[in-house]
Amino acid sequence: MNTTTPTSPIALVTGADRGLGLALAANLLEKGWRVFAGQYMPDWTELTALKAGYADQLTALPLDVTDIDSVRSAAARVGQDVDHVDLVINNAGVISPTIVHPIQEAQDYDEMHRMYDINAVGPLRVIDAFLPLVAAGGLKRLAFVSSEAASINRCKRDAWYGYCMSKTALNMAISVLFNRLRSESYTFRVYHPGWMRSYMGGTKNNTADLEPEEAAVPAITYFLRDRADEDRLVMRDWQGHEWPW
Ligand SMILES: NC(=O)c1ccc[n+]([C@@H]2O[C@H](COP(=O)([O-])OP(=O)(O)OC[C@H]3O[C@@H](n4cnc5c(N)ncnc54)[C@H](OP(=O)(O)O)[C@@H]3O)[C@@H](O)[C@H]2O)c1
Repeated sequence: MNTTTPTSPIALVTGADRGLGLALAANLLEKGWRVFAGQYMPDWTELTALKAGYADQLTALPLDVTDIDSVRSAAARVGQDVDHVDLVINNAGVISPTIVHPIQEAQDYDEMHRMYDINAVGPLRVIDAFLPLVAAGGLKRLAFVSSEAASINRCKRDAWYGYCMSKTALNMAISVLFNRLRSESYTFRVYHPGWMRSYMGGTKNNTADLEPEEAAVPAITYFLRDRADEDRLVMRDWQGHEWPW
């Protein structure tokens, strides 16, 4: 089904090959959005399969959030097709099997840096490159998939250093962006999507609470809701609860 029109709202979703990113893209397509989907795994077929049903609405584009040239090329590619973007969803994120090691065991600092580069710095590269396109739109919405693992106030883990630290750093990056951009009418959504049956561990997690398709429903509802949390930066979870920083 293709329902796009010249006035269809336009979104970018990062990390859209599978898991939550794919489900967010599919949900927006069903709602008639024009979607640019960041592709990091060209051999993974789900995004290509989704395109079969939405040929005019969905564009998959190479996007590695650790590589500023890749991110800028993606923005340039989007700018060839459209003159603005209404919604950017920073979804791409990783975890590492090494996070489970407590401090008494060897820490994998390369993996910590990798998680920080993708989870914390990656979204900043995306906003950097896509801001002119977002500025040209009416909605100016910047959404970030963070995690309850970011919360210092409610930290309960005794390991997971690289993942927790990277998501807390992401929240700080968003906070600094908010201070700069809120007065220019940008609107922000910071979100914990719930524990999902996605691929963060490398294979599909079948024991978690939510299928990515289920998780995408409250996520998109919150990302698109008007006048939600506009003048105060808030991290909300999939059940609508606010999380302390
Ligand atoms: N799963 C959960 O329970 C959970 C809970 C809270 C928050 N989150 C957050 O939700 C978001 C989506 O995670 P998910 O569970 O859907 O995981 P996922 O199934 O692994 O999907 C994430 C996608 O991002 C891709 N990616 C990795 N590195 C990238 C890069 N440098 N540039 C662009 N894309 C890249 C991944 O590719 P690879 O598979 O090759 O790495 C994967 O396709 C993440 O930000 C995660 O931190 C997840």
